[in-house]
Parts: sequence; C-alpha cells; structure tokens
Amino acid sequence: MLKTFDVIVIGAGPGGYIAAIRAAQLGMNVACIDEWKNANGGPAPGGTCTNVGCIPSKALLQSSEHFDQANHHFAEHGISAKDVKMDVAKMLARKDTVVKQNNDGILYLFKKNKVTFFHGRGSFASKSDAGYEVKVSGASEESLVAKQIIVATGSSARALPGVAFDEHNILSNDGALRLGAVPKKLVLIGSGVIGLEMGSVWHRLGAEVTILEGLPTFLGAVDEQIAKEAKKIFDKQGLNIQLGVKVGDIHSSKKGVTVHYTNAKGEPQKWEADKLIVSIGRVPNTSGLNPEAIGLKLDERGAIVVDADCKTHLPGVWAVGDVVRGPMLAHKAEEEGVAVAERIAGQHGHVDFNLVPWVIYTSPEIAWVGRTEQQLKSDGVAYKAGSFPFLANGRARALGDTTGMVKMLADATTDEILGVHIIGPQASELIAEATVAMAFKASAEDIARICHAHPSLSESTKEAALAVDKRTLNF
Ligand code: FAD
Ligand code: NAI
Repeated sequence: MLKTFDVIVIGAGPGGYIAAIRAAQLGMNVACIDEWKNANGGPAPGGTCTNVGCIPSKALLQSSEHFDQANHHFAEHGISAKDVKMDVAKMLARKDTVVKQNNDGILYLFKKNKVTFFHGRGSFASKSDAGYEVKVSGASEESLVAKQIIVATGSSARALPGVAFDEHNILSNDGALRLGAVPKKLVLIGSGVIGLEMGSVWHRLGAEVTILEGLPTFLGAVDEQIAKEAKKIFDKQGLNIQLGVKVGDIHSSKKGVTVHYTNAKGEPQKWEADKLIVSIGRVPNTSGLNPEAIGLKLDERGAIVVDADCKTHLPGVWAVGDVVRGPMLAHKAEEEGVAVAERIAGQHGHVDFNLVPWVIYTSPEIAWVGRTEQQLKSDGVAYKAGSFPFLANGRARALGDTTGMVKMLADATTDEILGVHIIGPQASELIAEATVAMAFKASAEDIARICHAHPSLSESTKEAALAVDKRTLNF
C-alpha cells in the first residue's frame, strides 16, 4: 500500500536528516529513508559524516593528538610519561562508541520531531498526479509517495582508474578509519583534506607517511601564505609530501602495496608501503536512486543538477549536500537542507555560499572563510592585509602552542572584512567569530574595537584586525 507524506527525504546524512527535522518543525509530515547499516545490520543514520567522515576522523585525530602530546610535549610542562603506548583496538572502539552516540542521537531526534524513518534503499519508481513514488528496499519493503522530494544521497570516495578499493591494502576513507594496527609505512595519494588529516593520525601514531600529490602546488584553495606556512610545518613534523607527481601502476600483494610514479622532475620512482590510502576527492551518489524513472538530470560528474536554491528541473524535486555542486562539507549540506525545507514551507530559506567556512583538522588546524589574497588579486579588488602571529599571544604561550597566525583581509576603501585565514591552535573555533563578523558585514575596525577576553586565542583575531590598520598593540 502506498504511504503518503508531504515530504520524502532520501538520505539521512547531515543534508538529509537536518532537512527532515526542519521540515517536520514546519508542520510537514516527513519520511526519511537511509540505507546505512551498522555492524549488526541495524540503521546508522548520519551518513558519511557520522559513520566514516567528520565524526570518526575527529575522534582519531583527538586520540592521536593526545598520544603525540604525551610523547613529545608533556615533558615541557614537567610531566614525565615514560613508555606511552597506544592500544589501537581501544582507540578504534572509542571511535565506534562516538559514532554510535551520534547515530542514536539522530534516531532520537527523528522520534522527537515525528519524522518517520525507513531503513533501506530509496529509489524513484514513477511520477503521477499524486506525486513522486519512491520504493524502499531493505529491512521492510515500502512504497511511499509525496509531492516534495529532497535527495540527499551524498558522495563516495573516488577510486583511481583500475585500482579498486579492497579496504585491506588499498583503502578509502572507510578503511583508513579502521586500520587494526599502525602500519610501518603508509602512502597516501592526494594531499587534500583527507590526505592531511588521515596522514596526520597515522603519522602521530608512528607510521612513516608519504603523501603523493598530483598538483605542483600545495593546498591550492588555501591562502598562499597560509599554505606555505602549513607546508613548512608539515615538512618539519616529518610528513613526506611530494608534489607534482604522476601516479602510475599500483601493485598490491600479501606484503603490501607498491606505487609506481614519476616525480616532479619526471623521474620514475617506486614507493613500497604496508597500506595505501587513496584520497583524491569524492563522487556523488546516485547509483541505486533510479533517477531515470522520473527523468532527473545529472551532470557529467554524476551530480544532480540544481540551481542556487537546490531546485532541480522537476517541480517539487530538490537536492542538497554532496550530491550537488559546491564544496563537499557537512555544514554546507545542513544549511542547504534547512533552506530547502523552509522554501517548501513557503519561506525564504537562504544559504550564503561565500560564507561557508573551511577547516582542516591537522595540528596546527587550518581554517578560513571568505576570499584568499590570490582571489582578491585576480578579482582586481583593492585590499589591506593584517596578520598577527600566535607567537605574540599570551594564551598561546601558556598553552605551549605558538605556531601560526591569524590573517585578515579587508577592503581598501570600505574596510569591510573580505577574508580571514588562520593556521594555529583552535583555528576551527576561532573562525566562527570571523564568519559571524562577515555575515554582519563588519569592518576590520569593528573587530578591532570589540573587547576580547584576556588571555584568549581570539585576541589574535582582534590584533589581526588592528594590523589591517597597522596598529597592533602586542606585536
Ligand atoms: P552523506 O553524509 O554522504 O549522506 C548520504 C546518506 O544517504 C548516506 O547515509 C547514504 O547511505 C544514504 N544514501 C545514499 N543513497 C541512498 C539511497 N538510494 N537510499 C537510501 N539512502 C541512501 N565535512 C565537514 O564539514 N567537516 C569535516 O570535518 C569533514 N570530515 C570528513 C572526513 C572524511 C574522512 C570524509 C570522507 C568526509 C568528511 N567531510 C567533512 C565531508 C562530509 O562528510 C560530507 O560533506 C557530508 O557528509 C555530506 O553530507 P550529505 O548529507 O550530503 O551526504
Ligand atoms: P580533496 O579534494 O580535498 O583532495 C584531493 C587531492 O587529491 C587534491 O589535492 C588533488 O589534486 C589530488 N589528486 C586528485 N587526483 C590525483 C591523482 N590521480 N594523483 C595524485 N593526486 C591527485 O579530496 P579528499 O581529501 O579526498 O576529500 C574529499 C572531500 O571530503 C574534501 O574535498 C572535503 O570536501 C571533504 N572533507 C572535508 C574535511 C573537513 O572539512 N575537515 C575532512 C575530510 C574530507
């Protein structure tokens, strides 16, 4: 029997589950379908982010950071910690507990908000005057219908052509998060966000890490000055990052993996490692969705074609998150989910794509919002830059972490903040002030005149704002 809803959401990652909750808050009768299974075959809503992305990676980054601190930094505080050992199984079990808490939290939120959850694969069956019919195949077989559909099916790791993931030797983000032991030698292909975060985790735990990057520049999307600083720091930490390589044949055997490549000089090279992580970007998930049944258009990357409002060309069909254009970030997916639910309710949902912050959770963290110096130059915008090093910040000295800086870019005429770029401790938290300031179209002068608590890392943001006007007080 057909079950009728106002809205059907396909996918319960950050885009889908948040869209479902917001639509329910706005009084709609909402179904949300997700196929992810936990180890026992039960539902595990939360998508890539919760199961094999943001949450588990940050859990491992935290554990490995503690290990690194105990090994290398406790001594300067007068704490002696001899024979520090890492129990990898326990670290992974903790990570799994954190993931489960998040899965359970979403199931609780669905109940609280009266979202009907279906565990299984959702695929389009047909369209008619009654709306779009979506079949659920999984634990239970159902047929649902609604006039409004939100597709939030996310993305999956991109494999190298002809090199399938076996999650034993050749790992995607999934396998990279469940290595049962620290590999002696680990090679990663791609020095993007996953390459740096997962490379850091296993490097801190003792692996010899090599990262092979195809592009000649390091972190091309990051402000050049910050990227240069980051490269220097990662080199010093011992991450072997090789730029401008061309990856060739890859052989996997019982002993491990051999990666053949040419280096930036065009010389043939070979790297042998116990494990290989391929982190070269992600592809939108539409297989299994049967988009043909309703004539839903995909672009050449396989992403669902939407406009700036996440509308597809079919009336009542929307798509959000990793399965559409734009950065593949959980908070971007969430914002789109909220905006679409509000648009369906007749409200004016809005996402400011210029103000989506980015964070790379390495040590030090790298975070930014708005435009980089190179973008402002190429856009022909006259700007002023001010920066402040954590070296001159009292809280950073007390923490024992003075790497990096806050850099602020402001319009040369109006003083409006156009971009903020941070490398250093707690950059992930500090970037929020910059995002709020930019959302309110603050000037550098505004930040410079706001009282910031002392001693705090956020004083560096205020000092960077002062530096825009060449009047830092502490540097
Ligand atoms: P997803 O989270 O991928 O969720 C899609 C869901 O839909 C999945 O549960 C999937 O099983 C389900 N699904 C797909 N097809 C169907 C179907 N036909 N029927 C039913 N269900 C279906 N982003 C950040 O902002 N910060 C981070 O720190 C961060 N860290 C990351 C670390 C790693 C290792 C990875 C891989 C990604 C990370 N990301 C991070 C990116 C983030 O995970 C994604 O941008 C985010 O999960 C996208 O959300 P989504 O809802 O669009 O899709
Ligand atoms: P990415 O796009 O960040 O980086 C991929 C890197 O691989 C690029 O530097 C690219 O030049 C390189 N590359 C591509 N093909 C290559 C090849 N054949 N040989 C060598 N190098 C090659 O993608 P990544 O790291 O896989 O992450 C996917 C996405 O997941 C990110 O773009 C981001 O949206 C999201 N993510 C976000 C995180 C965060 O917000 N902290 C953490 C992890 C992932």
